[in-house]
Amino acid sequence: MADPRPIRRVLTGITTSGTPHLGNYVGAMRPAILASRQAGVESFYFLADYHALIQSLDPARVQRSTLEIAATWLSAGLDPDKVSFYRQSDVPEVLELAWLLACVAGKGLLNRAHAYKAAVDRNSAAGAEPDVGVSVGLFLYPLLMAADILLFKANSVPVGRDQVQHIEIARDLAERFNHRYGNHLVLPEAAIDESAATLPGLDGRKMSKSYGNSIPLFASGGQLKKLVFSVVTDSRAPGEPKESEGSALFALYRPFATPEEVEAMRSAFAGGIAWGDAKQAVFERIEAALAPMRGRYEALLAEPAHIETRLQDGAAKARSVAVPFLRELRRAVGLRRLS
Ligand code: TRP
Repeated sequence: MADPRPIRRVLTGITTSGTPHLGNYVGAMRPAILASRQAGVESFYFLADYHALIQSLDPARVQRSTLEIAATWLSAGLDPDKVSFYRQSDVPEVLELAWLLACVAGKGLLNRAHAYKAAVDRNSAAGAEPDVGVSVGLFLYPLLMAADILLFKANSVPVGRDQVQHIEIARDLAERFNHRYGNHLVLPEAAIDESAATLPGLDGRKMSKSYGNSIPLFASGGQLKKLVFSVVTDSRAPGEPKESEGSALFALYRPFATPEEVEAMRSAFAGGIAWGDAKQAVFERIEAALAPMRGRYEALLAEPAHIETRLQDGAAKARSVAVPFLRELRRAVGLRRLS
């Protein structure tokens, strides 16, 4: 008898525009790697380098970020034999599907997408024409993302809250496509991991590249110490009880510590630990958790050819799914041989 539980496909991408920080690791990469080890799950993790071009970065920066993010996934324990781990631009079928989707997408649907709308709102606020400085790439960003997802019939897409609208757009496009051409595309769902930690940054707001408050995942030990010591605290003196809830320092500690360590730290806060001592303990805990990974990361960075081979293997695996599916879709829309 067939297994009653079908394989679930999980897919997610990271844009290759920066250097991973602690928040990316704890909030997205670590849970994704754990999920990829579950039975009944087929995972697709990719480096979204076509997406990086939307930001008109220095080409060398895009390449460097691709190397760093790939090395991070591998050093964090992603097993490329178990998942499909690839670079988006090695799977050009994504772009062809994006065109098929563009032809069913209402322009109004994309007008409402957050990234585009924010750019238009900024222009209006400045008294400028709505589309000043807006590339068609930015406008089509959700459409490209829909192609990433739909090409692999992903059921579940782990993303941050800011990306939920994009998954809804992908569903919407899939429905329109299916309505017009028959039931080919699978409707994806956003998976928001409520248990995954949202790390605060140095200033206590959510850690984010755009706030400039992040701690690079693979800062050197010395740099990590300096950054942890610069996390905001209040002016309470040693001996004064401190609340753990709401403390950025405590929230940074938590995802790297065992439940027992977390409770011990909570008591230390209540017992009036000095901020300097708390910072030292948090630094030591994070350093102990990251040091082995950092060693693997540095070894990988020194061997880009090894990573490249992994990515080429991953692309071949991804294309073994994408190419036949795109053939089916081309047929469905009427791109057919004449005989
Ligand atoms: N846009 C996503 C982000 O900035 C990255 C991304 C690109 C993605 N394509 C995707 C995420 C497909 C999930 C699925 O975070």
